[in-house]
Amino acid sequence: MAQAQLLDGAALACQVRRQIRQQVTEMQAAVGRTPGLAVILVGDDPASQIYVRNKEKACTQVGILSLSRRFPADVSRSELFEAIRQFNDDPRVDGILVQLPLPQPEWEMDAIASIDPGKDVDGFHPLNAGRLLEGVPGFLSCTPAGILYLLRHAGVELVGRRAVVVGRSNIVGKPAALLLLREHATVTVAHSRTRDLAAVCREAEVLVVAAGHAHLIGADAIRPGAAVVDVGMNRTPEGLVGDVDFAAVSQVAGWITPVPGGVGPMTIAMLLLNTLLAARWHTGLDAELRSPLEFLAERGREDGDSRPPC
Ligand code: GUN
Repeated sequence: MAQAQLLDGAALACQVRRQIRQQVTEMQAAVGRTPGLAVILVGDDPASQIYVRNKEKACTQVGILSLSRRFPADVSRSELFEAIRQFNDDPRVDGILVQLPLPQPEWEMDAIASIDPGKDVDGFHPLNAGRLLEGVPGFLSCTPAGILYLLRHAGVELVGRRAVVVGRSNIVGKPAALLLLREHATVTVAHSRTRDLAAVCREAEVLVVAAGHAHLIGADAIRPGAAVVDVGMNRTPEGLVGDVDFAAVSQVAGWITPVPGGVGPMTIAMLLLNTLLAARWHTGLDAELRSPLEFLAERGREDGDSRPPC
């Protein structure tokens, strides 16, 4: 079998970021301000620190104002919620993100629910999660939106296709399954208690793996020609690896995302885009909050997208 085609998230995210940078410049000229993203980080988890730094850098690169609050792991509940309240009230801030996991997992639901749903660029607020469930417009979670755009850009057909999502988190698995369903795929959600996971995965024409286990998925779990999207980011003694055994699976799959350079950069690009679209809505440039996927479909046609990735 030939090698799978690479779903190159790093290159596609660069194209999206270039479009955002251009839009931010146009927004500054039109209304005299740029979009703003506020990030809250609690504790010193090394992975979270890297993610937050990457988000801040990405904001600066496209001209989005980046505001952050960092707290020690023993922050009081009232201090944390006061920071969220201040960002809710700050007119410079269009998007708010509380980096997860919190050192106090029992605060997470309340913290997310206390974010203004109109600034919830992660799409984790129950109101936005419910909107996705009901199929009405709202903020879309960044990783699932990035996955959908990667697949769409590569021309992977979804209508009527068998899709399997491995993982049932609120951040990735569940919203990814709902988005695939919205695109008319026939969706199965598998998880740690699924019997004969490889057999379930072999049904998939589109396989999204967000389980958090290094090399969980081998070539025996792949239908020949399938599109395989690996959301895993596992730190191992061999370095950063995904949930999919890339070397083996790329011999069988039709398309595959690398780790790193696949889904990760798309998540950040979608966060920037959600922030831009929130700002366009808050400033009245758009009458309603627009979907990032619709926005990209229109920009893609307008730009012709013939330039090389940045
Ligand atoms: N932790 C891991 N991924 C994410 C994400 O997309 N958003 C937030 N807020 N926390 C995360």
